[in-house]
Amino acid sequence: MESEVSLGVSSVEHHEAMVRLLRQHDVLHSARLEAALRAVPRHLFVPEASLEDAYGVYTAVTIKQGPAGVVLSSASAPQVVTAMLEQADVRPGHRVLEVGAGTGYNAAVVDVLVGEDGQVVTIEYDAEVAARARETLIAAGHERVVVLHGDGRAGAAEVGPFDRILVTAGAFDVEEAWLDQLAPGGRLVVPLRLPWPLAAALERVGDHWRSVSTETCGFIPVTGPGARMPRSVDVGGGALVLRLEDDRPVDEAGLRDCLEGARAVEWSGVRVDDGPGWEALHLWLMADPGTPGFTKISASGQAVADGVVQPLMPWGAPGFHRGATVAYLANRRGLGGDGDRFEIAVVAHGADAVALATTVAERLRAWDRGWRGRGAHHLELHRTGGGDTTSGPVIAERAGQVLCAIWTPALPGCVSA
Ligand SMILES: C[S@@+](CC[C@H](N)C(=O)[O-])C[C@H]1O[C@@H](n2cnc3c(N)ncnc32)[C@H](O)[C@@H]1O
Repeated sequence: MESEVSLGVSSVEHHEAMVRLLRQHDVLHSARLEAALRAVPRHLFVPEASLEDAYGVYTAVTIKQGPAGVVLSSASAPQVVTAMLEQADVRPGHRVLEVGAGTGYNAAVVDVLVGEDGQVVTIEYDAEVAARARETLIAAGHERVVVLHGDGRAGAAEVGPFDRILVTAGAFDVEEAWLDQLAPGGRLVVPLRLPWPLAAALERVGDHWRSVSTETCGFIPVTGPGARMPRSVDVGGGALVLRLEDDRPVDEAGLRDCLEGARAVEWSGVRVDDGPGWEALHLWLMADPGTPGFTKISASGQAVADGVVQPLMPWGAPGFHRGATVAYLANRRGLGGDGDRFEIAVVAHGADAVALATTVAERLRAWDRGWRGRGAHHLELHRTGGGDTTSGPVIAERAGQVLCAIWTPALPGCVSA
């Protein structure tokens, strides 16, 4: 009895600390979302996790793994859930479709947000995971949430249209079904698998869709028959892993061994602190034709601990590849030294290390000089054909669609088609 009581108190404290940290770290802003997060005990949805992990703001909890430890399903970290729900701005009475039920936690929070006049439908591809989500949602008092088992790429036209569609798996394609199943004035929040992944909140404007916000995020890829998966390229036996979303040829053998080659470090003179400047830089690097092979690079904890690689963050960094040479961004947190801790360095490895480090550092300076802080940016999704025109540098081409980045006011270099 005593241990039950202390367990109960403890989960309340962890829950409270999670909400407090989300506010302190500037992730949680809305009072309604705060109330919804408080109303759903997250540990009920991840009983396999310790309370520390269940309520860890930056901790995702894996609930199903496939061969070789590939994560098939997880509860996204509270920071990611909260950031996406801030983007979604779910209102009382909304009909909401979630793609990727996972544990059911996000659906439960949305159920509180829509209230009794609204409706949440969540689709899960994995039958076992769907059954678990259904059971947990019922046990937690969210029996009104409809859990469907199926391929969420097709949406759920039979129960649509929806005021909000929230995709909680990384999408290579923005499915036409999602766009078609949005009610007038609706909003799609979708984690886009770009060289640097961004969750975009898209709303229809005439013949195209425009982002009202973008957030850095990382998600399990959307799966299903014919689904496209990212390519992983190992560098130095997994010390670094490049995750590539395009088909361009890559010198995999050369990259595998390039940590054994020359190493170059170039300090850029550009400062980026922990604030929102990063997101604008990532978007610009994706749009910039002069930036070589921009991609997200993850680092192994062991390689970081051994000092083999020193990426910007313990998990990895913005990275670049050209031929058999790789580069990543770093700062004095990893590289040491007495200078400004927010100055960005480029670390490159391989035969062409000096040249790649120089090129990347120059692109950082070009952004800093000519683009940084010179207006707002957003994404636009246009359908190709049918007279729709793009209005900015293209950052991704998909079947029948292009995604472009727009800076306002437009700066020289923006092309109009
Ligand atoms: C990060 S988890 C979602 C987390 C979940 N929203 C939660 O609150 O726990 C991603 C989920 O998307 C599911 N998924 C992947 N592809 C899918 C598809 N085509 N249709 C529906 N679900 C899919 C995965 O099986 C996995 O459970």
